Amino acid sequence: NSLANAYEGKFLVGTAVKSGTLKSPLPAKNTPECRDFNAFTAENAMKWQHIQPEPGVFSFAMADQLIRIAEHCNGKVIGHTLVWHQQTPDWVFTDDAGEEVSREVLLARMKAHIYTLVGRYKGQVAGWDVVNEALNDDGSLRDTPWRRIIGDDYIEYAFKYARQADPSAELYYNDYNLYKPQKVAGAVRLVKQLASKGIKVHAVGMQGHYSLFYPAISDVEQSITALINAGTNVAITELDVTVLPLPENAHTGADITQSFTAHPVYDPYVDGLPEKQQQDLAGKYESLFALFLKHAGHISRVTLWGITDGDSWRNNWPIRGRTDYPLLLDREGEHKAAYHAVAELV
Ligand code: XIL
Repeated sequence: NSLANAYEGKFLVGTAVKSGTLKSPLPAKNTPECRDFNAFTAENAMKWQHIQPEPGVFSFAMADQLIRIAEHCNGKVIGHTLVWHQQTPDWVFTDDAGEEVSREVLLARMKAHIYTLVGRYKGQVAGWDVVNEALNDDGSLRDTPWRRIIGDDYIEYAFKYARQADPSAELYYNDYNLYKPQKVAGAVRLVKQLASKGIKVHAVGMQGHYSLFYPAISDVEQSITALINAGTNVAITELDVTVLPLPENAHTGADITQSFTAHPVYDPYVDGLPEKQQQDLAGKYESLFALFLKHAGHISRVTLWGITDGDSWRNNWPIRGRTDYPLLLDREGEHKAAYHAVAELV
C-alpha cells in the first residue's frame, strides 16, 4: 500500500512539495508524502526568486523545511532549479542603472548563486536540475537573457559551477515537450556536446506535463530510447496528466496561454470527474508506468508534480481557475483509479 515500496528496486517515486506543505509541521508518517514517495522536489522553494530575491539576500527557510520533510520521510531531495529564465528576478540581468550586465558580471552572479545554494545543501541534495527549459521545440537553443548575455556556453558554465559546488551530486538537464522528436534531438545534442567538454549529465529530466489526449506512448518511448542511446539516464520529473480539453494548438508549440485566454473558460468537470474520464486517466497512467518499467534500468526516478488534485498547478495552467484531476490522489487525499492502476502494475 505504498507507491514507493511497490517500485522499490525499479525507480524512485517522487512528488513536488509546495509552500503550503512546507510551512506546516512535518507530515505524519502515514500521510501520502511519507507513505507513497521517496523523492522530494520543491515545487517553488529552491527557485531563484525564492532563494535569492534580492542581490546577496538569501532566504532558505522553505528549502530547509523541504530537506527536513525528506529526511523525516526517508526520501531523497531533488534540487529544482539553478538556471532558468522564469521565476528569476529581473535584477539578475541588470545593473543599478537598469542596463543589461556584461557576460562577466552575469557569470559571476550565476557562480555565486550556484555555489551558495548547492554548497549549502552539499551532501543533502541528491541531484540538481542545473538548467531548466533551455530548448525551443525545434531543438534549437531558446533565446533567454542567460543565452543573450553570456552566450551558448552558459549551460556549460552552470554545470561546471554545480559540479564544483558539490562533486557528488547528480546533475540534470530538465525540459518539457521532450516527446517531440526535434526537441529531444536538441537534448541529445546538448548531452553529447557537454560530454565532449568532460561534463556528465547524469539524467535528462522529461517533465511530463501530459494530457489524456497526448502524447502517444510510442513518442515518449522513442524519446527515452534516444536519450539512453546518447549515454544519459532519464528521469520523469514533473508528471501530471490533465483531463481538461486543450485548444487545437496546445501541443504544436504555439503559445497556449495566449490563445487559450482568448477563449471563454471551459471547465467541464467542476462537480467531479465522470467515470469514463476516471478510467481513461487510469489507462493513461498505466501505459506510462508500464513504459517506465520497461526502461527501468535507465530511469532513475518518476516524480509526480504534486500530491493531490487540489494541489496541482494544472488547475491554473494553461488557463487559471479550472478544476483539473491530473494526479493520483483526489482532493480528499483518497486513492483514485489511476493510483490503483499504477500501484498494481508492479
Ligand atoms: C510551476 C509550479 O508548479 C507553480 O506553482 C508555479 O506557479 C510555476 O511553476 N515547469 C517547471 C516547474 O519546471 O518549475 C513549473 O512549476 C511547471 C513547469
